[in-house]
Amino acid sequence: MKILVTGGLGFIGSHTVVELQQKNYEVVIIDNLSNSSIDVLSGIEKITGKTPEFHNFDLCEREKVNQFFKNHQDLSGIIHFAASKAVGESVENPLLYYENNINTLVYLLKAQTQFQQANFIFSSSCTVYGEADKLPITEDAPVKQAESPYGNTKQIGEEIIRDTAKTYSHFKAIALRYFNPIGAHESAEIGELPIGTPQNLVPYITQTAAGIRNELSIFGDDYPTVDGTCIRDYIHVVDLAKAHVVALERQLQDSCKTNFEVFNLGTGKGSSVKEVVQTFERVTNQELPHKIVSRREGDVVAAYADTQKAKNELGWATKLTLDDALASAWKWQLKLRQTH
Ligand code: UD1
Repeated sequence: MKILVTGGLGFIGSHTVVELQQKNYEVVIIDNLSNSSIDVLSGIEKITGKTPEFHNFDLCEREKVNQFFKNHQDLSGIIHFAASKAVGESVENPLLYYENNINTLVYLLKAQTQFQQANFIFSSSCTVYGEADKLPITEDAPVKQAESPYGNTKQIGEEIIRDTAKTYSHFKAIALRYFNPIGAHESAEIGELPIGTPQNLVPYITQTAAGIRNELSIFGDDYPTVDGTCIRDYIHVVDLAKAHVVALERQLQDSCKTNFEVFNLGTGKGSSVKEVVQTFERVTNQELPHKIVSRREGDVVAAYADTQKAKNELGWATKLTLDDALASAWKWQLKLRQTH
């Protein structure tokens, strides 16, 4: 069966391509390399022994999207990762984010419904919950006003898909709301490749340990949490990638309860920033230079997933731990140091 993976050379996309190929799906990737590298293709090949079909173009180019679908009428499913994801950049350039994340989604869905293709999986984010009223966060927690244009594109994206599913009965969609994906494939052949200074915690930590950054700044230690630092649900990217295959198979087996479904993907366990730093130090057996600075605007105090729905409906739960994720992220960073 042939599966289209947009953004298939990105961080989560590439790990999902590996899991799909290991289950014998034939993968076709569309990626414009705006936040990824062509070298990822050879990483995927080293792990799986197979090179996916690759198309380098921007999904904003509507004619190319249509042409692609004309030439690929045998797709069994689409997993749509391709999107811009830097919160700060989205505040500076909101229209770029609406163009990259919304136009592309509409073009894809138009082509998909026109060619009567059924299955669509959307990369969403726990950012749609904002500062949740209750923890752990269940899927029926209210969607809060987005803190950034990036977050808004995830909310609007879900609404566009919900409306599409209402109209086209042949169409099935699942939105996966990721908590904080971290880590890398255990082979260290693929991992996260942040361009410029990392905005996310774990790549900043690994780059600091590798000597690329002087020290980690912890954004605030006066939050109402155990140690004053924010709490997040860090999920190993390989567990997350496997969840995409499970969601796709739910669609392929026609087991969806409704034709638009939403699932949280997290471990269910919250970890503070300080806990992540300490775990990294223990797992890698080295000290990580860090200091406390003021809070970062837009950060929520705590977010971690209620995992019951994913367990009950998808039969999926995470298997890997924070230790595993941080060890794999470090192994990947060491590999990057050798090769770049
Ligand atoms: C961020 C985005 C979120 C997006 C996700 C994608 C914000 C506010 N949120 O989530 O919308 O879906 O990335 O991966 O940008 N931290 C530090 N020092 C650092 C970096 C981070 O202390 O140098 C702290 C943050 O304050 C936070 C935690 O580490 O408490 C995790 O931060 P990060 O990795 O950026 O993820 P989120 O902010 O949860």
